[in-house]
Amino acid sequence: MNRLRKTFLLTNIFFLFVLAASGQEGASIYQTYCAGCHGAQLQGGSAETLIKTIWKYGRRGDAIFRNIKFGIPSTEMIGWGKVLNDVQIKAVSDFIIASQTIPPDARRTIPSTLKTKHYTLKVEQLITAGLHTPWGMEFLDPDRALITERSGAIRTMINGKLNEGAVEGVPATAYQPSTTGGYFDIALDPKYKTNGWIYLAFSHTNGDHTNKNAPSMTKVIRGKIKNNQWVEQQTLFEVPDSLKVTGGNRWGGRLFFDKEGFLFFSIGDMARANDSQDLRKPSGKVFRISSDGSIPKDNPFVRTLNALPAIYSIGNRNVQGFAQHPETGEIWMTEHGPMGGDELNILKKGTNYGWPVITYGVDYSGEIVSNDTVKSGMAQPVIYWTPSIAVCPAEFVTSQQFSKWNNNLLVGALAFEEIRRLVITNNQVTEQEMILKGVGRVRELKTGPDGAIYVVLNEPDMIIRLTPQ
Ligand code: HEC
Repeated sequence: MNRLRKTFLLTNIFFLFVLAASGQEGASIYQTYCAGCHGAQLQGGSAETLIKTIWKYGRRGDAIFRNIKFGIPSTEMIGWGKVLNDVQIKAVSDFIIASQTIPPDARRTIPSTLKTKHYTLKVEQLITAGLHTPWGMEFLDPDRALITERSGAIRTMINGKLNEGAVEGVPATAYQPSTTGGYFDIALDPKYKTNGWIYLAFSHTNGDHTNKNAPSMTKVIRGKIKNNQWVEQQTLFEVPDSLKVTGGNRWGGRLFFDKEGFLFFSIGDMARANDSQDLRKPSGKVFRISSDGSIPKDNPFVRTLNALPAIYSIGNRNVQGFAQHPETGEIWMTEHGPMGGDELNILKKGTNYGWPVITYGVDYSGEIVSNDTVKSGMAQPVIYWTPSIAVCPAEFVTSQQFSKWNNNLLVGALAFEEIRRLVITNNQVTEQEMILKGVGRVRELKTGPDGAIYVVLNEPDMIIRLTPQ
């Protein structure tokens, strides 16, 4: 037998052995350290059962791994990273996943009604197939809505049904299934009915979009849709090539028009946390431009040497939701923080929100980002979530149908797969109610022209509609 083949065989046998051992090891680690609280058969005891379809702190394997390693703050569930090494944690987490009767990644059943404090909600599943990672949604009129797909498509929902053909002639995007780039949010001009402008944020690279290492950055354009064709495209925000980055992650990409008609958008830190504090760099910021892409004269950094003049606020790790308070007119924003540091903030001109100098979280690897949570000259969040729910969209309730919820803020979460209703009194969150839990990653929330609440889910990719029964 030649040497190479021999080594190959031996390595394989070795791995098989490790695999078998880790399966066994997972079960025995579980019995030693976990069964006391979660039960010998994972059936629950002093702590909840670990056989379930709705995972309180995240269903994906990486979330279960992290919850075991770092624990769940303010509960009896300590971080086992001090006792067990990563291989052992992986083994016990694989053991838990393998013990499920329904695998965590299986399609979840969506209830047809939801009981909440004030309403029993009817849940209608409008689109259950044909969408691929839907991201942003915007209603054109009572019958039609546009939906972006991260892979780089604009789809149309007509009377609650997915139109087969995507909009044609849309621009290419730096999309890789394994990365987080692609098409993000879509928005309509406040004067859409007369001018037809539609706004789009997406990850953009000059040249080869299939090259994962091509320098890229979030870009904002507008165009019109005529006869199902994307036409009259104009670039509103694009940085020079020297400011594009390779291997970026956390692109922001949320778009929002305020009542004055300014267009706000976010760019996340692109995995370059320190750039969030650098006015010359686009990462980790919120921007404000006019609808034609020009820079409003009263933007906070227009007179600062070398600053990007579209910047409106800095130190924002990854803003994923904007919503304007119906009464105060203030813009609230949700920010995807590090582990344990998701934030809800009020957007103020020229403000530094602190990332990564101050934060309530730590890196997802467990590394400390900063020991500080407070610093003068840096804003404090209205609230933060520890553990992180992976907060994403935000929408104030204004609908007549939900009069008991008026001026409440709905927020959606990706990893925790939740919709929460936040009651806001004098700019403080005085109550949080869980509306929906564990049916999919909540990417987008929109009040439709009919007053219903539309929810864009990922995994499974779906559109559902909520109305009071
Ligand atoms: C001292 C009791 C205790 C021990 C021991 C313990 N846990 Fe937990 N665990 C908890 C509690 C309590 C919660 C839930 C907290 C809550 O519901 O807010 C929890 C939650 C979890 C969750 C998250 C469940 C979800 O719905 O998202 C996982 C996963 C988990 N434990 C795994 C483990 C593993 C693996 C071990 C052993 C290495 C272990 N636990 C040991 C008390 C314990």
